[in-house]
Amino acid sequence: MSTLTIFNAIPALETTAAPAVATSRPIPAVLGADLEVPVKGGRLVGYANLDYAASAPCLEPVSAAVAAALPAYSSVHRGAGYASQLTTARYEQARHTVRAFVGARTDDAVIFTRNTTDATNLLAGCLPAGTTAVVFDTEHHASLLPWERSVRLAPPAFPGEAVRAADEALAGIEGPKLLVVTAASNVTGELWPIAALAHIAHRHGARILVDAAQLVPHRRLNLTALDLDYVAFSGHKLYAPFGAGVLIGRRDWLAEGEPYLKGGGAVRSVGSAGEGAEWHDDPEPRHEAGTPNVLGAIALAAACDALTATGWTALVREEERLIARLRAGLASIEGVRELSLWGDDHPRVGIVSFTVAGYSAREVAEALSSEYGIGVRDGKFCAHPFVRHLLETADGGCDDDTASAVRASIGIGSTQEHVDRLVEALRDLVARS
Ligand SMILES: Cc1ncc(COP(=O)(O)O)c(C=O)c1O
Repeated sequence: MSTLTIFNAIPALETTAAPAVATSRPIPAVLGADLEVPVKGGRLVGYANLDYAASAPCLEPVSAAVAAALPAYSSVHRGAGYASQLTTARYEQARHTVRAFVGARTDDAVIFTRNTTDATNLLAGCLPAGTTAVVFDTEHHASLLPWERSVRLAPPAFPGEAVRAADEALAGIEGPKLLVVTAASNVTGELWPIAALAHIAHRHGARILVDAAQLVPHRRLNLTALDLDYVAFSGHKLYAPFGAGVLIGRRDWLAEGEPYLKGGGAVRSVGSAGEGAEWHDDPEPRHEAGTPNVLGAIALAAACDALTATGWTALVREEERLIARLRAGLASIEGVRELSLWGDDHPRVGIVSFTVAGYSAREVAEALSSEYGIGVRDGKFCAHPFVRHLLETADGGCDDDTASAVRASIGIGSTQEHVDRLVEALRDLVARS
């Protein structure tokens, strides 16, 4: 009988679901809230970061969780040493935290990836042979492009039209099918009817992948309640910029798909020359070969914990107050036009894109940065067909293929002063043109 004593116990996994509505913690701070940037004339001004939809700043609790994990940082799934066991436990705990954050089913796979793009590509590589993906032209390229065989649908004129178009397209497809849809547009912020789309997909025997990259930083998502099959999102848009994203969803296709990366960790055993390899059936090891981004996963889980602990009510209330103020300000400036697919009143997250008469989007973005210390994004936001459509259907049309828009986006740490500074800067620019 062994005389060894296990004296350094590793914390047990906490797999219970996160509370649905969180409690009472104040909204956490973000790093860089006091960042100062130079503007013309050499002055320093506080940075107005209005580019959260591209990448959100790091939450303080996220940075603290990473700092706390670093002293014991070690390899995962490989070592017998205490630090390795502890780091492995933290990595696996992160999986459970992320699963609970989106209300996933207990048997759903949770695979850490680099980002949303990596997650959609991973799923694309696991689709059963002959699968047709149905995608709207409104998608981000990460959800538009990975599919070997796809049917593209025109931007729908209203939400019910999206459901009708998906219904018709899915009805006409033989064999396995996947409906791919974004939950919140990275161009207009508008929310898509994902529950109705999931229902339609299932009625046709299809599955649904929801690109939640722009939803999860702003709204609670419940995969089980919405009956979604797959969800993908990125840590860097969720206040956890440490290089991890995630794909969550049904295990069967992922268990049978070609391993995303081939190498150590994904195999059960490897034979001699000519004998091949026996791959893991469990999706997590199968698709996470090599040393994973442990700190990225820990950061992502810490962000999930921090948002849940704060509670969506407080977060949404503050975001809605600021975005309403911003949109009202933009609407008050002649020559500034907000882009929208489904109209002013359609619910949206804290993202707004617009054009400014007399200026290219690049000129506006550069002037906002160099003269006012405001960071926004300009371009077509990796959603070329959608932005082209919005500009073409805009008043006055758009016959210039290089045309693009300006995007302002907010989140935790955004202030009324940032919003007001943007509106006043645009008023100045328009008055000068
Ligand atoms: C809706 C949406 N999907 C996917 C992506 C791609 O995310 P990532 O660059 O993290 O892969 C983005 C990024 O802007 C996005 O906004």
